[in-house]
Order: sequence, then C-alpha cells, then structure tokens
Amino acid sequence: MPTTRTQVAIVGAGPAGLLLGQLLHRAGVDAVILEQRSAEYVLGRIRAGVLEEGTVELLARANVAARLRAEALVHTGVGIAFGGARLRIDLHALTGKSMYVYGQTEITRDLMEARAAAGAKTIYEAEQVTVHGIDGARPSVRWVKDGKPHGLECEFIAGCDGYHGVCRASVPGTAIRTFEREYPFGWLGILSETQPVDVEIFYASHERGFALCSMRSTTRSRCYVQVPLADRVEDWPDERFWDELRRRIDPDAAARIVTGASIEKSIAPLRSFVAEPMRFGRLFLAGDAAHIVPPTGAKGLNLAASDVHYLSEGLIDWYRSGRKDGFDAYSRRALSRVWNAERFSWWLTRLLHRFPEEGGFLWKMQQAELDHLERSRAAQSAFAENYVGLPFDG
Ligand code: FAD
Ligand code: PHB
Repeated sequence: MPTTRTQVAIVGAGPAGLLLGQLLHRAGVDAVILEQRSAEYVLGRIRAGVLEEGTVELLARANVAARLRAEALVHTGVGIAFGGARLRIDLHALTGKSMYVYGQTEITRDLMEARAAAGAKTIYEAEQVTVHGIDGARPSVRWVKDGKPHGLECEFIAGCDGYHGVCRASVPGTAIRTFEREYPFGWLGILSETQPVDVEIFYASHERGFALCSMRSTTRSRCYVQVPLADRVEDWPDERFWDELRRRIDPDAAARIVTGASIEKSIAPLRSFVAEPMRFGRLFLAGDAAHIVPPTGAKGLNLAASDVHYLSEGLIDWYRSGRKDGFDAYSRRALSRVWNAERFSWWLTRLLHRFPEEGGFLWKMQQAELDHLERSRAAQSAFAENYVGLPFDG
C-alpha cells in the first residue's frame, strides 16, 4: 500500500477542513486533506450565507478575504416579522458590529483556490476513509482511491468531516458524550435569481409557521419556510412555495415579492447536537463533526470557524515552540463558544417556529416574548449580542 507522511491529516474539505488547511499552511505546518466527494460536489452544496465579523477577520488572517471584502453585503440590522408588522433590530447601533452576507459556496471556492495556488494537497473522492492509532503518538489514515488502498502517517488528525463523518464515530463510546435534540419540522429552502425580498435579512413568526427571507447577492434570493418533516421537495412546486412565504411575512413585504423559478430547492432537518470533549488523544473534532445547531441563529459555519481558530492556534504553537497547552485547551475553549451558540440557536428556534404538538400556550408565550423584544432595548441588546456572536478570543 503506498504510504506518505504529513504533520496533520485533515478529514473533510468543507469550510472547517479547508480553513484549517489554509491557516496551517500559512504557518508552515504541512497538512493533507482527504475528502470523500468531488470538488464540484462540495461546491454545489448550498448552505450557510451569514457570517459574523469574527469569521470575516479569521478569513482575512488566512488571506482569503479579498473577494469577500469586495462582494459581501454588509448588514447592520436584521428583521423579525410578526403580528402583521416588522421589528428591525439595529445590530450595529446595539453592538458596534454587523453581519456579512457571503455564501458558503463562495468561501469554499476562495479556500479551494488558495489551496491550489499554494500547491497544498487535497485528495478528493477518497473512499472508505478510516482513522487509526488516535490514542497513540503515530496516528494514520487509510482510504481507497480508484479502487486502490492508500495510507497517510501523521502526527495529528483533524476530524472536519461533518455530522455523518467517520472521525467522531472512531472515538470509543466511553470517551465521548453526546447531547441531542431533533425538532419536529424542517426548512424548505429555495435559491432563485430574483431580487431579495428586502435589502436586509428578516425572519418571520406566523401561525402557519416560520419563514426566512435571505439572499446571496442583490440579485439572488434565498428563502425558507418551515415544513413538516414528512414533506418532500416534490410536494412544493415553486408557486406553492412563494404563496406560502407571502402568507407568513408582513403584508408590505408580501406585496413586493419578486418571484421566479428556483435554481435549487431542498429540505433540511433541524437538530441541536454536541459531542464532548472535542478531542480524543491525537484526534481533534471541529465544525459539524462535533456539533450541529439549527440554522435559525446562523451559527453553524461561524462555529466551524471559531473551532478552527482555536485548533490552528494550538497546533501552530506546538510546531513553533513545542508547547501543548494550546491544543490541551482546545476542547474547553471551543465548547464554551459552542454551548453559547447552542443556547441562542435553540432559543430562537423555539421562539419563531410553530410546534404543533404544543398547542396554544406556547404560541401565546411566543407572542408575549416577541412583544417584549419589541418594547425592551435590553432584550434587543441581548438578541443583537448573540446574533453578531461572541468574540473568538473572549
Ligand atoms: P461540512 O460542510 O459538512 O463539511 C464536511 C466535509 O467532510 C464534507 O465535504 C463531506 O463530504 C466530508 N466528509 C464527510 N464524511 C467523510 C468521510 N468519511 N471521509 C472524507 N470526507 C468526509 N451556518 C452559518 O454559520 N450561517 C448560516 O447562515 C447557515 N445557514 C445554513 C442553512 C442551511 C439550510 C444549512 C443546512 C446549514 C446552514 N449553516 C449555517 C450551517 C453550515 O452550513 C455548517 O455548519 C457548515 O457547513 C459546517 O462546516 P464543516 O466544514 O464543519 O462541515
Ligand atoms: C441563509 O442565508 O441561508 C441563512 C440566513 C440566516 C439563517 C440561516 C440561513 O439564520
């Protein structure tokens, strides 16, 4: 079996794996990325769109923010539609920070290009990836490519392989605890080449269910509606989607919607999940491999970025000065931010969605909480602080 060597083997070429690879490369640490899918497939996944300032700063430190800085839409506020009107929360006035609308696809493309320009190695379409020796000093990774087995010896493994990946599953069950909540609905999302519903993102709470009007650019709209878990994409022709969205948002916005054919349509289940600790021996988990948040708070990709920040600092410190306190502190530092984002995402999901089985009382509590948010500057400040995210080094 042909076997090569590297310092850090990274499993998964999503945003977490690619960004870690880029930060390590810039610090002179050698890393190889193994990805089970093709580069085109990874680029075709439509996912996150909203970045915190901390994530943008980290991408700038990784030297991959030039296009982002030129093309991202800067949002100083965010809306919540309920009761026939819209509340705007002025994020910038309340926190001094803004959010950046720039698709995960674009970040992935920028990172892939930087990696290719640096001549760093990514092996796409690596099948049957397995990790070995993670509790010792000489871990390794094996995979099959074009029907042939391959091996990679390394000093550390970064499990950046998402929720369904192989790395978390390789940790002995007695060494890891998981905490999970599944929600009884999903988000049906469509992407269309139409003008966004408004210039700023807004969420909507309606008796018929949650909705979200977002965007990828000034000409590309990304919208979601809450749907029952049993629904299929085929149940939702574009016209039905737009009609449902119109019913759930404030009448002013509904009157202005520009509809058009979808260029992507998918249903995502909602889940809260944390595995802890995020380290086992020489294996570190980062991003969705270690935790999932429901997308309501726009935190998933931002958490993947903060994990990578802490992990890259720890590994770079080790290679520069032989100090292990950075990577020893990794799991604790990352999890503190993770649990805070879990709390906010859970709270916002519960505030804005219909939970049919919970009946009228929850609906009344949601209305009361939204009214409170409208009246109380303190409540808006708390929302804004959470939405823009804690500083990575807080
Ligand atoms: P992933 O992107 O899942 O990447 C993991 C990679 O590992 C994949 O490329 C996968 O193919 C690969 N892999 C898996 N198994 C293996 C294996 N066995 N061997 C090799 N490779 C493997 N987050 C936000 O911050 N803001 C938002 O606005 C937002 N909106 C979202 C909207 C939706 C509808 C969804 C579904 C998610 C949203 N998120 C958002 C969450 C965000 O997309 C994820 O948190 C983010 O993709 C996590 O990145 P990652 O690199 O950890 O994992
Ligand atoms: C998106 O633009 O896809 C998006 C925006 C805000 C969210 C989730 C997703 O909370």
